[in-house]
Amino acid sequence: AADLSDDLERVLYTQEEVAGRIDEMAAAIDRDYKGRDPLLVGVLNGAVMTMADLCRAMTSHCQMDWMAVSSYGAGTKSSGVVRILKDLTTDIDGRDVLIVEDIIDTGLTLSYLVQNLRTRNPASLEIMAMFRKPEAAGSAVDVKYVGYDIPDEFVVGYGLDYAGRYRNLTDVATLRHEVYEA
Ligand code: PRP
Ligand code: MN
Ligand code: MG
Repeated sequence: AADLSDDLERVLYTQEEVAGRIDEMAAAIDRDYKGRDPLLVGVLNGAVMTMADLCRAMTSHCQMDWMAVSSYGAGTKSSGVVRILKDLTTDIDGRDVLIVEDIIDTGLTLSYLVQNLRTRNPASLEIMAMFRKPEAAGSAVDVKYVGYDIPDEFVVGYGLDYAGRYRNLTDVATLRHEVYEA
């Protein structure tokens, strides 16, 4: 098979740019959660890279847990249905919870998650997302930490996939049209 970079149309953010932005966000989170030992909740699978880099860029204590909720399946459009595929193993009652996401597109996944986690009585509940599309920027989902607001294009890399692939691309990029037609 060809190298995955052969399939790219345009790079939006390089690995270095993403790393720099992660450092800034980690510093803000360190500041805001000083002395509070937040629980970072990563949303599988896309948030794996963001979580791994964000938590290591932090200098204060934190803990990690994971949820898997899928709304997209194999396509490029949201199916409109959110399912919990894997729940938290941590009791979040009284905890300072920070949801960690790679991208917010329609905001459907996060509005469902926030509504669900709220019922478990956390002390606080905030959202960090590396990328946000215009539709989500205009929606009711209140995101405290946003890496980059991006145009309404289908992007891959840094955890973001197309049909399960390209998550391991270190840059964030759009795909050539031929990839979707193949
Ligand atoms: C993607 C992405 C977000 C969600 C955003 O996950 O990682 O979790 O979609 O879309 P929304 O704002 O329209 O709900 P996906 O369901 O593709 O699963 P994955 O993380 O395993 O790729
Ligand atoms: Mn996801
Ligand atoms: Mg996906």
